[in-house]
Amino acid sequence: MGNCLDSSAAKVDSTQSSHTPASGASRISSRTSRSSVPSSLTIPSYSGKSSSECFPTPRSEGEILSSPNLKAFSFNELKSATRNFRPDSLLGEGGFGFVFKGWIDENTLTASKPGSGMVVAVKKLKPEGFQGHKEWLTEVNYLGQLHHPNLVKLIGYCVEAENRLLVYEFMPKGSLENHLFRRGPQPLSWAVRVKVAIGAARGLSFLHDAKSQVIYRDFKASNILLDAEFNAKLSDFGLAKAGPTGDRTHVSTQVMGTHGYAAPEYVATGRLTAKSDVYSFGVVLLELLSGRRAVDKTKVGVEQNLADWAKPYLGDKRKLFRIMDTKLGGQYPQKGAFMAASLALQCLSNEAKVRPRMSEVLATLENIESPKDATKNSRSEHQTVKTPVRQSPMRHHHAPGTPPASASPLPSHHQSPRLRSAADNHL
Ligand SMILES: Nc1ncnc2c1ncn2[C@@H]1O[C@H](COP(=O)(O)OP(=O)(O)OP(=O)(O)O)[C@@H](O)[C@H]1O
Ligand SMILES: [Mg+2]
Repeated sequence: MGNCLDSSAAKVDSTQSSHTPASGASRISSRTSRSSVPSSLTIPSYSGKSSSECFPTPRSEGEILSSPNLKAFSFNELKSATRNFRPDSLLGEGGFGFVFKGWIDENTLTASKPGSGMVVAVKKLKPEGFQGHKEWLTEVNYLGQLHHPNLVKLIGYCVEAENRLLVYEFMPKGSLENHLFRRGPQPLSWAVRVKVAIGAARGLSFLHDAKSQVIYRDFKASNILLDAEFNAKLSDFGLAKAGPTGDRTHVSTQVMGTHGYAAPEYVATGRLTAKSDVYSFGVVLLELLSGRRAVDKTKVGVEQNLADWAKPYLGDKRKLFRIMDTKLGGQYPQKGAFMAASLALQCLSNEAKVRPRMSEVLATLENIESPKDATKNSRSEHQTVKTPVRQSPMRHHHAPGTPPASASPLPSHHQSPRLRSAADNHL
C-alpha cells in the first residue's frame, strides 16, 4: 500500500465549526466518506507477545471488542451517565464528536447519580461512516491493550446501531491546548511546561520502545490531556499505527495527521516512522516555549507556521527570548530554555534520521528539569530572564535565515486536496 496523496478519495472539507478558532491547525486526511460500516474489520494487534521480527497479528473486530480490560456500555447507560448528553455536561468538541462529563459507579461501572461515583469523559462520535468506525476501533484496539501512566485510560466503549462512544478516565485539567491558547486559565509556569513535556515524552517513548512499536501519528496539544497535578496523558489513538517490522525502515500509509504538526517527509511521501512523531513532538515543544499555535491563520507570512517562524531563533541564545511566551513573564531559566529550544530544533530537523529518538528527548527534558551538573551551573540555571520588551521578529525584519512563507514544509491550506479545516480536527 503506497501513500495516497493523489487518491481520488481525498477530499477537501473546509467547514469551520465553533470549537476551533480561526487559528487552528488543519487536519490532514483522505477519508473515504460515508461508506457503510463493514461488519468486520481487522486491526493489527499490539500484543506484548509478538516479537518485533514478526508482523503484528491482526485482530478481528470481535476480538478487539471482547478485551477483558474494557466494559461494553449500552447506549442507554451512557445516556443516563451524562444526563442525556446535556449541553451543560459538555467538556469539549473535537472534529470527531463531542465529549461529555458523566458519572459511573466505581465498582459496577453502571451509570450513577450525577455527582456520585467516578467521573468519566464520554466521547460521542458523530456518525462518520467507515473512517470514523475504523478510527474508533483502532482506538479501542490500542487503548484496550496499552497501559501506561502517560496514556489516557479507556474504561469502555459503546457500539449500538450507528452510535460509537468511548468512555475514558476524566482528566480534570482538560487539554494542553486549552491551557496554552485559550483565554481564562492561569498561564502555565515554566516548571509545569517542562513537566507536561516530560509526561508526553514518556508516553511517546513507551509507544516507540514497545516490543511491537506503535507510531502515534497525531501528537498535538489538543491530544495531550492533563490530570489534577498536570501529569500529561496521550489521548486519541484513532490514527495510531504499528511501526515497521523486520528489515523495514518505514510503513507506507495514507497521509493522516494535522497540518503544522505532521513531519514534512511523511506528508510528502506517506512514509511513516517513529521519527514522524518526534517531529510533532518538536512542534509541541515549540508551542510550550512560545505559547503560539502550530498554525495560526490570523498571522501573516512565515508567522503562520510556528516551526518555520521559530527555527532561526532556536539555536541562538541571544535571540531566543524573542520567541518565548510573554505569558511566562520572563520567569524561566535561560539555560533550561536554551536546552529546550535546541532540543526542539533537533526534533524539527528536516532529515528524519538526524532527529533524536524519543528516549533521548526524554533524557534531555529530565536533565532540564533536574540538571545533573547542578553544581556547575547552579546560578545560571535558576536565574530567570529579565523580560526584555519582546520584539516581533516579523516587525523588525532582521531574522537571518527566516524562510519565506512558501518554504513551509507543508502545502498551504489551498494547495492540498488532503486538507480538512481544523475545526473538524478529526478525520
Ligand atoms: N478524558 C477527558 N477528560 C476531560 N476532558 C476531555 C477528555 N477527553 C477529551 N476532553 C476534552 O474534550 C475536548 C475535545 O476532545 P477531542 O479529542 O474530541 O478533540 P480534540 O483533541 O480537541 O480535537 P481532534 O478532533 O483533533 O482530536 C478536549 O480538548 C478536552 O478539553
Ligand atoms: Mg483529541
